[in-house]
Amino acid sequence: MSKQPVLFTQNIDESVDNILSQYTYDKLFVLTDRNTFKFASPLLANSQLCKDAKQIVIEADDTHKNLESLASVWQTLSDSHATRRSFMLNLGGGMVTDLGGFAASTFKRGIRYINIPTTLLGAVDAAVGGKTGINFNGLKNEIGVFNPAEAVLISTVFFKTLSREHLLSGYAEMLKHGLISNADTYNKLLTLDFSNLDLDQLLRLLEESVKVKERIVESDPFEKNIRKSLNLGHTVGHAFESLSHERKSPVQHGYAVAWGLVCELLLSHMRLGFPTERIRQLATFIADNYGAFPITCNDYDYLYEKMTHDKKNESDNVNFTLLKDIGIVEINQTATKEEICSALDLYRDLFHL
Ligand code: GLY
Repeated sequence: MSKQPVLFTQNIDESVDNILSQYTYDKLFVLTDRNTFKFASPLLANSQLCKDAKQIVIEADDTHKNLESLASVWQTLSDSHATRRSFMLNLGGGMVTDLGGFAASTFKRGIRYINIPTTLLGAVDAAVGGKTGINFNGLKNEIGVFNPAEAVLISTVFFKTLSREHLLSGYAEMLKHGLISNADTYNKLLTLDFSNLDLDQLLRLLEESVKVKERIVESDPFEKNIRKSLNLGHTVGHAFESLSHERKSPVQHGYAVAWGLVCELLLSHMRLGFPTERIRQLATFIADNYGAFPITCNDYDYLYEKMTHDKKNESDNVNFTLLKDIGIVEINQTATKEEICSALDLYRDLFHL
């Protein structure tokens, strides 16, 4: 898999035109969802090359990251006589870049595309690294391919209007990148004050965080080994997310990951001696900014069941990425049901639940 350049820009119109002018293509398609069509597309109004592009607009949010939306994108490409020489620009959050990347990767066996993430979560995670796909049969990202964008363009202009909740959701993935990289990067992340947010500081941290992901993806593009470190917090996080959906009170992905990180660091302590002081420090930051995800011991069976169905599992055991210390990652770890329940008990103690 070739390296995918990730470019940070203050001037999105000019950068889009710069990138596009490096390619020869017959038709340009811009994929957005209803929200990004309304709020993000106008920010590209001065791009000369996007002006004549064909717009494809799909319904917003993860529930529409499905076969029906995908088929509608293929249909428009086909009706508009797109060819293998056509080009696609995905403008949106992770849902748009995942689905758009997959549509582009499969149409006529693949057309080239670039991603422009419009959320912090998209910029720090989904848009970078070549994972594309859709949800299927009730399972997230069940169908997809690894196929990197020609480039990823990250611009601050889209983040200025994001809510605190959206920023915090993306920030959880940045905390994860800090934990798996080094103490210096991680410690800086804990100094950001969300009650008095300095957007420039956030952007400097974002740039560092994207580099962590780029380095990992470059050394293991197909998730055979070290890319699994990016799953830290996600085994428990996905189970929390499912429980929140079951309760009809969904939490944002990044929030579930934030609470999942604390639980998986507790497991890291049990299995590998990860320092408890670090866990308390993270739990305090997360409680202050994200609050707590309420659980009781009556939820343990449901959560355990979800963890055993996680697609990262390669056997009957629950598979985790754990840490010995900041930056010391151990992939392919397992934990027993008893250990997982103890971690959930400790999580409840830390969050006073
Ligand atoms: N979202 C984790 C990865 O890209 O591997």
